[in-house]
This record gives sequence, structure tokens and C-alpha cells, in this order.
Amino acid sequence: MSYPVYKVLHLIGVFMVLLSLGGLIVLSAVGQSSNARWKKLTAMTNGIGLVLLFITGFGLLARLKIQWPWPGWVLFMVLIWMVFASLMVVSNRVPKSAGYLWWGSLVLAGVAAYLGNLKPF
Ligand code: HEM
Repeated sequence: MSYPVYKVLHLIGVFMVLLSLGGLIVLSAVGQSSNARWKKLTAMTNGIGLVLLFITGFGLLARLKIQWPWPGWVLFMVLIWMVFASLMVVSNRVPKSAGYLWWGSLVLAGVAAYLGNLKPF
């Protein structure tokens, strides 16, 4: 796959993760985490988005010819992915964290966009 295709798919992964997290956070905050229909849709979108982000992230690295040892910004990008991968469980288990998760996800995604574009270190 070409570089621009990986990039568009990477962004679709970002949208899927953020959209689904928003849904999961609200479901949990209003005590509806067990709502079968929306639980399935949000969890599925979150999972597929995370896998898509991961695969296309490494596809982008290959297209950019970035190899091990990775620059610091890539390590942080992978760390951010790990944090996102844990947020569905946190939102289900700790409904009180909803406000923090809501704004925290947005800030984290913003940091990832900054790292991916400016590659500061
Ligand atoms: C395994 C994890 C990840 C890897 C290896 C990875 C890798 C990359 C790479 C190599 C780029 C391209 C930089 C360029 O084109 O010059 C990029 C861009 C980007 N990444 Fe990631 N990434 C990962 C996870 C994430 C996560 C979790 C998010 C946010 C939720 C994210 C959001 C972005 C954004 C917004 C861009 C900029 C896209 C653009 O310029 O159009 N990435 N990433």
C-alpha cells in the first residue's frame, strides 16, 4: 500500500478510536455500560480502530524508512497507543473518571498529531 493510503487509513483509525471512546465514556457516565446494542457497537469500533491504527502506524514507519532504533516521537506514539488501548476498560470500570477521560483522550490525540507532524525529537 502507498504512503497516502496508509495515512488516510491511520486517520480513519484515529476517528474510530475517538468516536467509540466518546460513546463508551457517555454510556458509562449515565450508567448504561451494559446496554447490549451500544456496548457492542462502541467496543467493536474501538477494537477495529486500535488494530487499524497499529497496522497503519507500522506501515507508515516502513514507507518513511524509519527503522529501529526508533526516534523518540515514535516511542511516544506507541506509548499513546497503549494508553488508548486501556481506556475502554477504564471507562467501563471507573464511571467517575468520565470527565478526565473525555478531555484526556482529546489532549492525547492532539499530542499524537503534534508528534506525527512535527517529529520534535
Ligand atoms: C503503534 C502506534 C503508532 C505508530 C507506530 C504511529 C506512527 C505514525 C507515523 C509513522 C506517522 C506519520 C508521520 C508522517 O507521515 O510523517 C503518524 C502520524 C500520525 N499519527 Fe500515528 N502512530 C501510532 C499511533 C497513533 C495514535 C494512537 C494516534 C492518535 C489517536 C495517532 C495519530 C496520528 C496522527 C493524527 C498523525 C498525523 C497524520 C497526518 O499528518 O495526516 N497515531 N503516526
